[in-house]
Amino acid sequence: MIPTGCMGAFEITRLGPEDDAEIAAFAETLEEVHRAAFLPEAMERHRSAIAREHRVLSLVRGMELVAIVIEQGSKTALPVSHPTVIVRQERRREGIGTALAARIEAADRESGRVAIAAGVMADDQPTAAFLTHLGFRHADTLLKMETPLTPADEIAGSMVDIRHWDPANTGWSEQIATLYNVHFARGGSIPPISADDIATSAAKIGTRLLVALERETEDLVGYIEWLPDAMVHSIVVRRRWGGRGVAEALVRSLKRHIKAEGGTKLTSFVSPRNAASLRLHRAEGAQEVDQMRTYKKLLGDTLDAT
Ligand SMILES: CC(C)(COP(=O)(O)OP(=O)(O)OC[C@H]1O[C@@H](n2cnc3c(N)ncnc32)[C@H](O)[C@@H]1OP(=O)(O)O)[C@@H](O)C(=O)NCCC(=O)NCCS
Repeated sequence: MIPTGCMGAFEITRLGPEDDAEIAAFAETLEEVHRAAFLPEAMERHRSAIAREHRVLSLVRGMELVAIVIEQGSKTALPVSHPTVIVRQERRREGIGTALAARIEAADRESGRVAIAAGVMADDQPTAAFLTHLGFRHADTLLKMETPLTPADEIAGSMVDIRHWDPANTGWSEQIATLYNVHFARGGSIPPISADDIATSAAKIGTRLLVALERETEDLVGYIEWLPDAMVHSIVVRRRWGGRGVAEALVRSLKRHIKAEGGTKLTSFVSPRNAASLRLHRAEGAQEVDQMRTYKKLLGDTLDAT
């Protein structure tokens, strides 16, 4: 987490509820794509994120708020940080973004993070230029897909039971970590996770999971994990259970759950190379709505496999 205090002519402070009016005024000056996150109705979500160790920070010069930084606190389990820096439009190209990025990078190195990642929507050239200037490299391009929550989603695949993940069930967490590591952390730049990391990110970032259990043995054969706002983070099914509708059952259960909570869609970012995931998404009615280029800066000696 970047330290508070002076940065040249600027002061970095933590934002609190008392800053809402100033943030709303700042939001009005932003491009539409960034504005929504800081309007009063969204601030409540930021505050609960702050409570979970996501921090919203402000950078102030005199009485004017010139930038907002959102980052995960150093106590989160994430080995890769995903910070966001937003600089007031008329104060861009003065080096403010660069100075903040340097501080974020120093803080992330200090807390042992292995990389910093950022996602840039396909048509956002300025941010791509900014990240390149900071030494980030283009890592991947992902399809942003939205799945509507249609009413007629029958859940077939009766070989599995779908249940909510239970933090007290460490056996489940261990199996989830193993599945995640086998699929995502094999020799690449994505570090392996432990069962504790799953509990920590649930408590601090608000990730939630559904698990698929084999009916007879109660063995965990797959899971789906999502973030607040029904953003699907990962879905993995044990290889030998592939092609038997387990992923479909997980997605449909999640759709029901999100619908019951008042949501209208699932959002996910899918690699165009992941044929199985694309097929699953399309079968569930997902539409490609945009593309996101991911950028990464490695902080250690880890080899980047992407
Ligand atoms: C991206 C952003 C944070 C950059 O902040 P900034 O304070 O303007 O950045 P800097 O002044 O430190 O710019 C550093 C370098 O980045 C590159 N850069 C920044 N903005 C650029 C633009 N619009 N076009 C081309 N290059 C740009 C340049 O190389 C620049 O150096 P230069 O001005 O000497 O040419 C700012 O444009 C912003 O708030 N954008 C909207 C929010 C956003 O997309 N945030 C996502 C970041 S994770």
